[in-house]
Amino acid sequence: MAMAALFYAICLCFLSVAFGKSVVENSPPTWSNFYTVSGVLSLPYAEIVESFQAWFDGKNGRSRIDYYGGLDSTIQRADVKPYGTNYRICPETTETQLNVRSCFQVNGTKDAPVAIQTVLPDLSKFKFVGYKECRTGNCSAWMYSNTEQHKENTYTMYTSLTVQADPVHYEMLGYDTLLGSHYDKYEVDYIDYAPQMPPPDVFDIIDITCKGFPGPGIMSSLIANPMQEFIEPRGQETVHELFEHFLIKHPKKYANMVDRKEHNERRDIFRQNLR
Ligand SMILES: *[C@@H]1O[C@H](CO)[C@@H](O)[C@H](O)[C@H]1NC(C)=O
Ligand SMILES: *[C@@H]1O[C@H](CO)[C@@H](O)[C@H](O)[C@H]1NC(C)=O
Repeated sequence: MAMAALFYAICLCFLSVAFGKSVVENSPPTWSNFYTVSGVLSLPYAEIVESFQAWFDGKNGRSRIDYYGGLDSTIQRADVKPYGTNYRICPETTETQLNVRSCFQVNGTKDAPVAIQTVLPDLSKFKFVGYKECRTGNCSAWMYSNTEQHKENTYTMYTSLTVQADPVHYEMLGYDTLLGSHYDKYEVDYIDYAPQMPPPDVFDIIDITCKGFPGPGIMSSLIANPMQEFIEPRGQETVHELFEHFLIKHPKKYANMVDRKEHNERRDIFRQNLR
């Protein structure tokens, strides 16, 4: 009887150890509502490698992502009344001036209010898939896949094994089951993640007057905030994403291309150039 009870107790103990572990493993990390982080975004098929720096304040509705060492700055202000506003500060080349530091502003509307932009994907649909080697050594790996028609997109996030998980590496791999080949890939390496409130003045526009983009509409907000195409797993055609990203280098050239048909034609040309 005593032996049986002891045996039972040991079993229970094992069970709770196993159960406790699986609970931890099965719950993907949630990110802090405010943080700063640096990183590198890579699009190997497009030969684009770009560093960025991000400040996120979800509490007060403010975010900012800089590219090219701060030469190109995008600021999302959901806190500005009535529907928020997006800023992009970048060098602009006009007929008369070369690389003038300029500020563009796109206001949100009732139907499309400005949202803040995180650089950390929401992992709530991701599943733990094991411990994997990563840049920092040993990481937890979390995976999410979706298939749309014959495109299978797999998203993997690597996080540190610390109690409060840090983001280490994120990658998206797009596979075309019809052609039996990968058609897209992008990766983000995260560096120096700090779940701390950014200083409020990083979100301010100082010493510069902002003007509207030359042309309203959907393209403006994409140009003002290119990161939005990379962080949300949506399973859309990712050539599209590459193209939107490409625009970041040419805000002036494409800024007035709000026409969807022309946009799509340009996208096809871009796709051709990728091959
Ligand atoms: C990674 O960490 C896990 C959990 O601590 C451990 O079980 C695993 O053996 C480690 N892997 C390597 C390669 O160190
Ligand atoms: C955005 O809204 C602000 C405040 O209402 C206004 O001053 C500014 O001119 C608007 N900018 C654009 C580009 O619409």
